[in-house]
Amino acid sequence: MAVSNRHLLQIEGMHPPQISSLLDLAESYVLLNRSGKTQRDLLRGRTLINLFFEDSTRTRTSFELAGKRLGADVINMSVSTSSVNKGETLLDTAATLNAMMCDLLVVRHSQSGAPNLLAQKVDAAVINAGDGTHEHPTQALLDALTIRRRRGRLEGLKIAICGDVLHSRVARSNIHLLSAMGSRVRVVGPPTLIPAECERLGVEVFHDMAQGLRDCDVVMALRLQRERMTGGQVPSAREYFRFYGLDFEKLSHAKPDALVMHPGPMNRGVEIDSAVADDPVRSVIKEQVEMGVAVRMAVLDVLARANRRNV
Ligand code: NCD
Repeated sequence: MAVSNRHLLQIEGMHPPQISSLLDLAESYVLLNRSGKTQRDLLRGRTLINLFFEDSTRTRTSFELAGKRLGADVINMSVSTSSVNKGETLLDTAATLNAMMCDLLVVRHSQSGAPNLLAQKVDAAVINAGDGTHEHPTQALLDALTIRRRRGRLEGLKIAICGDVLHSRVARSNIHLLSAMGSRVRVVGPPTLIPAECERLGVEVFHDMAQGLRDCDVVMALRLQRERMTGGQVPSAREYFRFYGLDFEKLSHAKPDALVMHPGPMNRGVEIDSAVADDPVRSVIKEQVEMGVAVRMAVLDVLARANRRNV
């Protein structure tokens, strides 16, 4: 996987065949999960620690479920951000976890690069569950799986990522993954929320939803991440919704069967209209959650095979 074969730290640097084979494996876990069966022998006797320094519902729960369905002993550690004393505490935590002989360490942290730092200090396989504004690799993998299952391919699809791209690790991982797989990615949002690096990454930039969504196969809305804002980047929620909130009028500029996605948690009436989010035909938001468990099982499976000594 990216950076080394031992960890999953980022999508950037992953090669298309690696991504495809992970998605293929995840596909088999979708079928296993739907059949109600488990495969508890795969990670039997192994320990997975969920180390979350930031809030999470979907990601933490799905890693827990994924680990349990493969037979691992799963421990959830929720650490409030206020107790984190920058690098030193993180490294102390790493030393503690190492002493406990943890095999798989799933880390979410508000600082970009924290999982990479941990990966250098622990024997466990480290999985980045979202670090600051950097990356959220398993989210991009589950998004790709959702799209691929619905459209049969990723190549050549026109995909709009809308809203707060600046603060979004989901957007960054998706841009790397979808571009690598041959999708045509564009970002749409106010100039204050579109990072300069977008053009360097080869994505088209739009500031108008009607233009940005034109003929798109997939429209992905992002949460307005106020907790990462330093102020002044967005007007009121009402005004934001008027220009960038995904409602049926704006969606009408995309292809008639365009998929609607959102990584969650959603701010209804801010970046997405409830009627669009809950539309049973267009919205695949619940399917994204289902794919999240399958993708995480595939990642744990691959890392288990790659980390023979530890896992
Ligand atoms: C995302 C995250 O934490 O980066 N959520 C998630 O994992 N599903 C997106 C967000 O917080 O807006």
